[in-house]
Amino acid sequence: MPVSAALSLTGVTLEYPDGEGTLKALDNVSLHVPAGRILSLTGPSGSGKSSLLAVSATLIRPTAGRVEVAGVDTSTLDDAGRTTLRRGKVGLIFQQPNLLPSLTAAEQLIITDRLRGVHASASAARAMELLDLVGLASAANKRPHQLSGGQRQRVNIARALMGSPALMLVDEPTAALDHERSESIVKLLVQLTREFGFGTVMVTHDTDFVPLTDAVAVMRDGCLSAGVMTPAAAQGYGLHR
Ligand SMILES: Nc1ncnc2c1ncn2[C@@H]1O[C@H](COP(=O)(O)OP(=O)(O)OP(=O)(O)O)[C@@H](O)[C@H]1O
Ligand SMILES: [Mg+2]
Repeated sequence: MPVSAALSLTGVTLEYPDGEGTLKALDNVSLHVPAGRILSLTGPSGSGKSSLLAVSATLIRPTAGRVEVAGVDTSTLDDAGRTTLRRGKVGLIFQQPNLLPSLTAAEQLIITDRLRGVHASASAARAMELLDLVGLASAANKRPHQLSGGQRQRVNIARALMGSPALMLVDEPTAALDHERSESIVKLLVQLTREFGFGTVMVTHDTDFVPLTDAVAVMRDGCLSAGVMTPAAAQGYGLHR
């Protein structure tokens, strides 16, 4: 039975202009992330981890190779098509939550529906449901300065869930948090991946939490190592170069 893929990268190469020549940020990378699974991506600084997320998010077009998000070949889309796909199918979570200082936690979520052109009265109810799910029901009316770092990251995660993504791309979500809060954030991402059935790629330097995820792959100089299953993993990864 074919495993449905949240993300498939096939032979993806990304070159940036670099003085007279070019810099290869991604070098023939192939990666398959099934729905409902979470992959840890580690590797040294500058090895291409964020570049892999940017290409997967359709924020940057690769120089070569194929990027499929939720079964859609993104090379067939124009800029507007890619923006629509990103808004509808991709959740992005970065290290810094980038919350709007003047908005309450609930409003941070509701505004994303407005940006998608959804003016649903259901938005507020959905925002409350998601805040409850990340353990922040009682903080719905608080503004970012009234929240802790861990709570702000939870708002960020709830916000990324508003669009019902098929693919969740997470770049160092715990870099600004202590060990205990980091662990609870990773556990939350694992739980949400299972519950909502999206595929997740989580870039992390925190190898302590890798065993909580399904598999780990390592980037080095733009090349991706074969993914190694963690004991928690079942099946379905096809990580290869
Ligand atoms: N917009 C850009 N233009 C030119 N070169 C870039 C650009 N973005 C990244 N690079 C280069 O591409 C390579 C990969 O960068 P990337 O940000 O993907 O690394 P990373 O693994 O995420 O590093 P870190 O762990 O420090 O976040 C680096 O050599 C970087 O300098
Ligand atoms: Mg990075």
